[in-house]
Parts: sequence; structure tokens; C-alpha cells
Amino acid sequence: MQEGVGGKMGVIAITGSASGIGAATRASLERAGNTVIGVDLKDAEIIADLATPVGRAEAVAGIARANHGTLDGLVVCAGVGPQIEPWSTIVSLNYFGAQVLLAGLRNTLAAADGAAAVAVSSNASTLPGVDTAMVAACLAGDEAEARRLAHTLDGQRVYGGSKLALARWVRRNAPTADWAGAAIRLNAVAPGAVGTPLLQAGLDHPVFGPAIRNFPIPTGEFGTPDEIAAAIVFLLSDDASFCCGSVLFVDGGTDAMFRPDAY
Ligand code: NAI
Repeated sequence: MQEGVGGKMGVIAITGSASGIGAATRASLERAGNTVIGVDLKDAEIIADLATPVGRAEAVAGIARANHGTLDGLVVCAGVGPQIEPWSTIVSLNYFGAQVLLAGLRNTLAAADGAAAVAVSSNASTLPGVDTAMVAACLAGDEAEARRLAHTLDGQRVYGGSKLALARWVRRNAPTADWAGAAIRLNAVAPGAVGTPLLQAGLDHPVFGPAIRNFPIPTGEFGTPDEIAAAIVFLLSDDASFCCGSVLFVDGGTDAMFRPDAY
């Protein structure tokens, strides 16, 4: 380790940098002397709506321009919770708003001397009932069909499905010539419930609030944004040089409790 947690890695782009987990990751990286290019709807270097194709294209172009065509790290963190309607917005932002940036910035990451990317999935991706046709539509790159299918589901299944598709995209791509073969390490974190405005909006919801409160967390409390940022910074850093295609659950033990024998 060098000047802070994770050490100095260079120029790192973070979507969803204005709040919660993204803001905590930004702060940690900046404390260690890195330069952050934030992307968000507000309070960021690049203002873009990642739920839309136009916003994604502007973000990809803006990030590539910002550091003369190279990038040392990318964190795709922007997301909305299961209570957001219409539910098509959830899949457009949480999956396509992340995957299109990863794919669109691959060449920019490859131009750096060893880069890393981290996608923010969720432990909601492993809940029963989320592995729907919408997940397949996401992985086929068919946003129109994924949005159509989202309207036939409920918010929790759309949310979990968007995060399952993102984790699968990471695992399918991380070990390939385009990523590992181009010296770009690609990994994901899967947080559990973390105290942020997104979680608070869920807690305030008449249906999702009680469900979130009843969700068991073996270690006791909700996580903090800093606890997730620490995992993201680790996966970005050289300390994680052998991590490739990992989905790191940081959830107080919930996934292990529900699926002890999934490995
Ligand atoms: P947050 O609400 O604090 O931050 C999300 C950020 O994304 C905000 O700054 C918001 O402005 C930005 N954003 C929203 N819509 C956008 C759009 N259309 N275009 C660009 N930016 C947009 O939420 P939090 O909790 O920090 O969430 C970050 C990520 O972590 C999300 O992907 C979320 O699904 C994931 N996550 C969060 C958990 C939690 O309990 N807080 C649990 C598991 C995963």
C-alpha cells in the first residue's frame, strides 16, 4: 500500500459518484491521491442520464476525452432501487447504464498500463425468482425487450434481475482476451443493505420498507457506504492483482446464510 487505502492508481471514473457508495468510493480514492471523474445526474464532472442511450454515449465520450483516451479504473455504481417506477427505468439504468459504459470504455481502459473495472451488483441478484427472461434479454443486449419484460414483473424481480445480469456479464467477460487478455481486471461487488439514500427510499416505501426491515443480516446492522467502498477500492488496486471475474459479496453474511451450499 502507498499513500492511502489502495494506494495511488491514477485516473478513475465512477458513475453514481454524487451519493452513497459512489461518493464514499470517490472520497477514499481521492484521499489516496487519485483523480476521479465523476458521472451523475448532478454534482459531477460529467452530467449524464445513464438510463438513456444518449446519456451513456455522452458519458463514454466525456470519460474517454477527459484523460486523453486512457483510463486506469472504472466503477459502474449508478443505480436505483426496486421501488422506482416505471420498472423499465431500473433495468435501463442498473444493467444497461453499467454494461454499456464497461463495453464502451474497454478500449480506453486497455490503453492504460494495467487497468481495473468494478461493477456494483447486489446480493438481491441471488434471491429466488429473479432469474427471468429479462436477464437473458439483458445479456443479449436487447434493451427494448428487457424493458418490455420489466413491465410484466415486479420491482424486486426487475432489480434483482438487473443485478444478476450485470454479475453474469462480468463473469462472462472478465476471463476473455478482451479483458484479462488486455490486462484489464474486471470484477464485481455484491452489497447487501447499505445505509444510503437509495436504501432509505426503500425503507420509506409501504411495501418494500417492511420487507427490507425483515431481511436478515447475520452481523446485525445495515452496512455503511465506506464498507462497500473499501471492497471496491481493494478490487481496483494492485492488492487484488489475482482477482478476475470475482463477485465479492459484502453483505453481513446474508448470502452465505441463504445459500451456504451454492459453492
Ligand atoms: P444512492 O442513491 O446513494 O446513489 C446512487 C447515485 O446514482 C446517485 O448519486 C444518483 O444521482 C445516481 N443516479 C441515479 N439515477 C441516475 C441516472 N439515471 N444517471 C446517472 N446517475 C444516476 O445509492 P447507493 O445505495 O449508493 O447505490 C449505489 C449502487 O449500489 C446502486 O447500483 C445500487 O443498486 C447498489 N446497491 C445498493 C445497496 C444499498 O442497500 N444501498 C445494496 C446493493 C446494491
